[in-house]
Amino acid sequence: MTGSGPPAGPTAVAGDGERRPASKFDMSGWLDGRVAFVTGAGSGIGADIARRMAYAGAAVAVVDRNADAATATAASIQADGGRSWPVVADLSVASERRLALDVAVSKLGGVDILVNNAADHGTRHHFLQVGPDEWDRILATNLTATAMLCQAVAPSMSQSGSGVIINLAAIQASLPLPTYVSYVATKGGIVSLTRALAVEFGPLGIRVNAVSPGAVASGSTRHALAESGNPDASSPTLLGRMGTGDDVASVCVFLASQAASFVTGAVVVVDGGRSLSRQADPLSDLSRPRPNQTSRG
Ligand SMILES: NC(=O)c1ccc[n+]([C@@H]2O[C@H](COP(=O)([O-])OP(=O)(O)OC[C@H]3O[C@@H](n4cnc5c(N)ncnc54)[C@H](O)[C@@H]3O)[C@@H](O)[C@H]2O)c1
Repeated sequence: MTGSGPPAGPTAVAGDGERRPASKFDMSGWLDGRVAFVTGAGSGIGADIARRMAYAGAAVAVVDRNADAATATAASIQADGGRSWPVVADLSVASERRLALDVAVSKLGGVDILVNNAADHGTRHHFLQVGPDEWDRILATNLTATAMLCQAVAPSMSQSGSGVIINLAAIQASLPLPTYVSYVATKGGIVSLTRALAVEFGPLGIRVNAVSPGAVASGSTRHALAESGNPDASSPTLLGRMGTGDDVASVCVFLASQAASFVTGAVVVVDGGRSLSRQADPLSDLSRPRPNQTSRG
């Protein structure tokens, strides 16, 4: 996947399948010879990260519990001349995580870049309606899988003398919206996990960073906005537009590349200035279920 001109393939089709203008920012070659393991890469931001990393020269394991989605992302990368392999796994299950890593290593070689992107956003309802099963499920995917994958890749990364881990947080970790308590708790955990692992893994030659997006017009956020009756959420950012998966993906490529060789323990906010904006978030409406209402009523 080399050549001149704009990256017409990987960045022209967004993670949700929608065609958008290809980015003018060409990072081809930035990850030549590396192997990336990108979780939740079947759709949304993860698919954009997988495509961006492939365009930058990495071989990419597209990991997702949705087999059709993983296959489609991997196929689109291959069609553009990149190296990619779909890996189907429910990452909330320990045995499937282990198998997913084994498959990726056998098909593509040792993992140099781990991107923990898969997340369970949960159903929007008041925390008083969140049962223990839902809480456990969200923690298992968002926090436990992230931590355990970091632990699983570290020995081989350390042996090779280098490795990069990128964890997807969210600005909600410090700017929580109502009805997302379990999800927000995991994102706060990811920020702390990232900083703690940077301390432990730095001496092993492994950089660990987090990317913290604001609302991005892809995947589940698109659905939540449509549900809220305000699909155009551009107003709360300072840059007058909503973020795209590619806005997040290009930062991930930077963090994974040698250009960021002295960056570890960072939490890079990619929100168009949303965290500084005083305008109300379209998803903060309080007409959502109250404690005495049913969760989806
Ligand atoms: N979209 C946003 O506005 C936004 C904002 C802030 C942070 N983020 C973060 O960015 C990341 C991607 O968000 P998104 O909106 O693209 O998500 P999404 O829901 O659109 O896609 C998540 C992908 O992960 C996969 N997945 C979920 N649980 C899994 C599991 N247990 N095992 C394997 N695969 C699983 C899904 O099948 C899906 O393909 C998440 O970590 C999210 O918290 C997103």
